[in-house]
Amino acid sequence: MGLLDGKVVIVTGAGRGIGRGEALECAAQGAAVVVGEFDPDAGEAVAKEIIAAGGRAVAVGGDVADTEAATKLVSTAVAEFGQLDALVNNAGILRDKTLAKLSDDDWDAVIRVHLRGHFLPTRAAVQYWKEAKRPGHLVHTASTSGLLGNFGQTNYGAAKAGIAAFSTIVAMEGARGGITSNAIAPTALTRMTLDLMPDEFRAKRDEAIERGEFDFFAPENVAPLVAFLCSDESSHISGKVFGVQGDSVEIFQPFTSVAEITNGGKRWDPADISSRIDELFTASGIQAGAENMMARMRYQILAEH
Ligand SMILES: NC(=O)c1ccc[n+]([C@@H]2O[C@H](COP(=O)([O-])OP(=O)(O)OC[C@H]3O[C@@H](n4cnc5c(N)ncnc54)[C@H](O)[C@@H]3O)[C@@H](O)[C@H]2O)c1
Repeated sequence: MGLLDGKVVIVTGAGRGIGRGEALECAAQGAAVVVGEFDPDAGEAVAKEIIAAGGRAVAVGGDVADTEAATKLVSTAVAEFGQLDALVNNAGILRDKTLAKLSDDDWDAVIRVHLRGHFLPTRAAVQYWKEAKRPGHLVHTASTSGLLGNFGQTNYGAAKAGIAAFSTIVAMEGARGGITSNAIAPTALTRMTLDLMPDEFRAKRDEAIERGEFDFFAPENVAPLVAFLCSDESSHISGKVFGVQGDSVEIFQPFTSVAEITNGGKRWDPADISSRIDELFTASGIQAGAENMMARMRYQILAEH
């Protein structure tokens, strides 16, 4: 018995990396999988791998940020497998540059693939579930680059923070119809991140894998949490953001207000704000200047692993 027996799941960007791992795990848990992928060869290869292992899968090519292609993911799930139970929005790209050097195209491409690429399949899935009066599960892919910020990633971080906010609001809107919406912030070594690693780090990792040790940053490590969030076992969980890497699953605290100053029922004067603003920093322990929030992360690729 798998956690997803009889279920139908779409995974976008499932031709490689984290999405491939998610598609294989959902299939191993009993789901029929729609493999959404921009690169048709990579998508077909994953669908074939699932079928060869005795599972059910179909590849759907196309750009997830294109309305027709995104709608086709849902219509294919229903036409091929009779229903849709979960959607995993995973497809993504990077175009890293510091802000002053960032081109219009690098901004637009990243915002489009991530935000529009989450919006379109999610809208199609929610429309289907509302019409069919069925519950459904959504898993979106945020990033610590959005939740904490990361140098050189204004475009990517803005998109990923937007995805976390998008997921929270979809969760509110879907609650009455039994639609859950959660986001993950994964960390794994994939085509997207491997090239950013020094040779020395890669060599050390390869040796550890050869020795049969647990590969903390294998993209497949993200998939078990995602399969769980696609299942009815997680029906009571919605609007949450989970960190996931290696054998670790974390929960992120949403943005929240932690200190306040008021002005006795009168509009503030800017000079008075200037004299009292430090009260907020003292009360909260938050530092006034720019912080490297990534330094507070529990797990960093180059830290202990
Ligand atoms: N690898 C990490 O450490 C990490 C960290 C945080 C977030 N993420 C996020 O996880 C997701 C998967 O990343 P990955 O590391 O597996 O990257 P990857 O490059 O290995 O895989 C991404 C897949 O998405 C596909 N894709 C890209 N644009 C597409 C589009 N417009 N339509 C359809 N498919 C498209 C690519 O062809 C590729 O197969 C992304 O959203 C990424 O931002 C990854």
